[in-house]
Amino acid sequence: MSVECFVTGGSGFVGQHLLAHLTTAGHKTWVLMRSPENIERLREQVGQLGGNPALVHAVEGDISRDGLGLSDAGRQCVSTVSVVFHLAAQFSWGLTMERARAVNVQGALNVARLAANQRIRLLMVGGFMLQNLGHLASIGVDNDCPENTKWPAVYGRVGGYEGSKLEAHFAVIRYMQQVGADYTIVHPATVCGHSQSGHILKGQPLAELIRNLAQGRFKAIPGSARHWLPLVSVDYLVRMITCVAFDPTMANRQVLALYEDTPNLQGMLEQMARTLQVKAPRRHVSIALLRWFLMIPGLASRLAISAESLDFIQTQRFDMTDSKQLERKYQFSHPDMVRTLEMTVRYANGHLGN
Ligand SMILES: NC(=O)c1ccc[n+]([C@@H]2O[C@H](COP(=O)([O-])OP(=O)(O)OC[C@H]3O[C@@H](n4cnc5c(N)ncnc54)[C@H](OP(=O)(O)O)[C@@H]3O)[C@@H](O)[C@H]2O)c1
Repeated sequence: MSVECFVTGGSGFVGQHLLAHLTTAGHKTWVLMRSPENIERLREQVGQLGGNPALVHAVEGDISRDGLGLSDAGRQCVSTVSVVFHLAAQFSWGLTMERARAVNVQGALNVARLAANQRIRLLMVGGFMLQNLGHLASIGVDNDCPENTKWPAVYGRVGGYEGSKLEAHFAVIRYMQQVGADYTIVHPATVCGHSQSGHILKGQPLAELIRNLAQGRFKAIPGSARHWLPLVSVDYLVRMITCVAFDPTMANRQVLALYEDTPNLQGMLEQMARTLQVKAPRRHVSIALLRWFLMIPGLASRLAISAESLDFIQTQRFDMTDSKQLERKYQFSHPDMVRTLEMTVRYANGHLGN
C-alpha cells in the first residue's frame, strides 16, 4: 500500500537513496528543503538512483526554525503524511556547540514536535556510537539518567557534531515519551557507497578517508589491531530504515545498521589501498598520541584529519540480535561488503575529484 511520507535531509547522501527507495515503492514523498529551487536537480538524482522522480515534492523550510519554518501551504502539504523520516543534520567537524545545538538538537526537536502533533511515527537516524555504552560513560553521558549529563563538558570532549547527535537522541526520546508519541531510531555505522554502483557523495567521512589514502596522507594506522571503523552500505541502511518505519512492533525501539564483520582498520585500509594501487600504512599509532599531534597548529589541516573523527575508530563489538531478527523478518541481508567497499573506492576515485 502506498502512503505519503515527509523526509528531512532528503538532499543528503542517505536521503537521496531513501527517496529513491520510497518512491520506487510508490510512496509520494515531501522533502523539506532549505533551497527548494534545487528540486529538479534532486529529482534527476533520484531518477539516476532508480527512484521515481515524479513522486518527489519540495516543501520549503529549515529544521532550526520554529515549526520548521513551514508556510501555511507547506503545513497543508505535510498534513496527510503517515511517517516523518528525520535525517537532516549539520554534518561536519569543527562545529561550535551553539551552531550544532541549533540545528541538530533544536532541529530534531522541531521535527519531533511535528510528528507528535500529527500523531504519526517519527523515524530518526542516530549513529552507532549511541550503542557504545562504554564510550558514552567515558565522555560523561549518563545513559541511565540523561538529564544529569553535563552537555557542555561532553561537547568539549567530542566536538559539536557528535555532542549534538548524542544530546538530540536523548532530548527527542524524552520529548516523545512525555507526549506519548511514537518514535523509531536507526543507528548507522559509517556509511559506505551503494553495493551495485559504489555511489557516495563528496564530504562523506568514508569518501574523505579514501581521498586521504589516495593522496598518501595516511602514514600510520590509528589505534591497534583491535580497532575498527564499522561500516554499512547505504542500500542496507535504507532497507532497514524503511522496514522499521512502517513496523508497528518497532514503536519506541532502536536498532543498529552495522556490518559486524567489517575488518579491522588495518585490513580495511589494505583493501582500499589495493583498489587504489597505493601503499597501505603498516605501522600503528596510538589514538591518544595522534590526538596530541593534531593539537600542533596546522597539522590537522595538513593531514586532513580531525581529532573529532577519531572517536569513531574504536574496539567495541555490538549486539546485533535485533538487527538480525529484522533481516530474517524482512528477508534482506548485507551485500558482499568486500565488493561494496571496492565499488565505493572506485566511485570515489573516479567521480569525486580525489
Ligand atoms: N553518513 C554517515 O556516515 C553517517 C553515519 C552515522 C549517522 N549518520 C546520520 O545520518 C543522517 C544522514 O546523513 P548524511 O550522510 O546523508 O548527511 P549529509 O549528506 O551531510 O546530508 C545532510 C542533510 O541535512 C540537510 N540539512 C542540514 N541542515 C539543515 C537545516 N538547517 N534544515 C534542513 N535541512 C538541513 C542538508 O540539506 P542541504 O541540501 O540544504 O544542505 C542535507 O540534506 C544524519 O543524521 C547523520 O548524522 C550518517
